[in-house]
Amino acid sequence: MSQNEVFDQLDVGGIVDLTGEDTARIHIAALRAAGEPGKNAAYQAERAAGLVTAFPPSLVRALHRYGNHGSVHNTLLVRGLLPDVAGLPPSPGTTTPAPLGPDVDAAALILLAVASQMGEPFTFASLYEGRLVQHVTPVPGQEDAQTSEGSDTVLAWHVEDAFTEARCDFFGLLCLRGEPAAQTLVAPARALALPAEVERVLREPRFVVEPDIAHGADPTPDLPVAAVLSGPPGDPEICFDAVYQRPADPADADAATALKALADAVDAAAVAHVLEPGELLIADNRRIVHGRTVFRPRYDGTDRWLLRTMVCASKREHRRRGASRALP
Ligand SMILES: [Fe+2]
Repeated sequence: MSQNEVFDQLDVGGIVDLTGEDTARIHIAALRAAGEPGKNAAYQAERAAGLVTAFPPSLVRALHRYGNHGSVHNTLLVRGLLPDVAGLPPSPGTTTPAPLGPDVDAAALILLAVASQMGEPFTFASLYEGRLVQHVTPVPGQEDAQTSEGSDTVLAWHVEDAFTEARCDFFGLLCLRGEPAAQTLVAPARALALPAEVERVLREPRFVVEPDIAHGADPTPDLPVAAVLSGPPGDPEICFDAVYQRPADPADADAATALKALADAVDAAAVAHVLEPGELLIADNRRIVHGRTVFRPRYDGTDRWLLRTMVCASKREHRRRGASRALP
């Protein structure tokens, strides 16, 4: 992707607007829940699930429809989830801040409440201290990082945690503070224009992905070999990472060529959205790839600040994993 490109915008059919009345009712319920004792992740998810009673039926229905049928871009944007954020603390400048007060706790519960309509929120123990809700904000010294801490470099196309089949089915990004220069980019797999031969290669198990540095893991020698594309032709699933993925066999020139063609097709299918405060973008991590354009951090407390959580759509799978909120 190039920084100065003008991208198409998210399809309006995948946007839900809340009324001011909805926003206030949800916020009051979330502040009350945030004030309840008990801070562990399982209890946090349970408290959040109860907030659904404060949601308007239009939001519950939109989430249900999205979970069943997706959307044109396989994202859902919910606007107006948070009231005016004038009282928020400064953007933390770290992805592992100390407790930040009731407004941030309430926002985290609202994010988890929406996420719980899509399945079960979880994370990985190796990721940002295993926090169920993670902070996405620029961190000094990490400007070039391909992680939630980066800023002054393009966040290359990827799906979350492509190296593991336990990766999330959906993730949500709730914006506390926006940044006009930071365009969140998505490219739906169903919009990719690929030559038949390229698609055939991408559907074969000929590729590996190394764990990304956010997990702090060294590359493991026994990487699973998998396909990039799978599922029905009209609604394909994708597992792509522009940085960490490569042909399993270094001599497999056709696989390398197919990955390059895919990268070009992803660029061509990109749509963009600049997240604004109170907006939650839910993305289908099995059917889109995503990235972010460059922005310049200021480190003065006003930087871009998102909360993120990940969802396992299958309750059965979640139970099989011990109902763990932080996978080992
Ligand atoms: Fe990401």
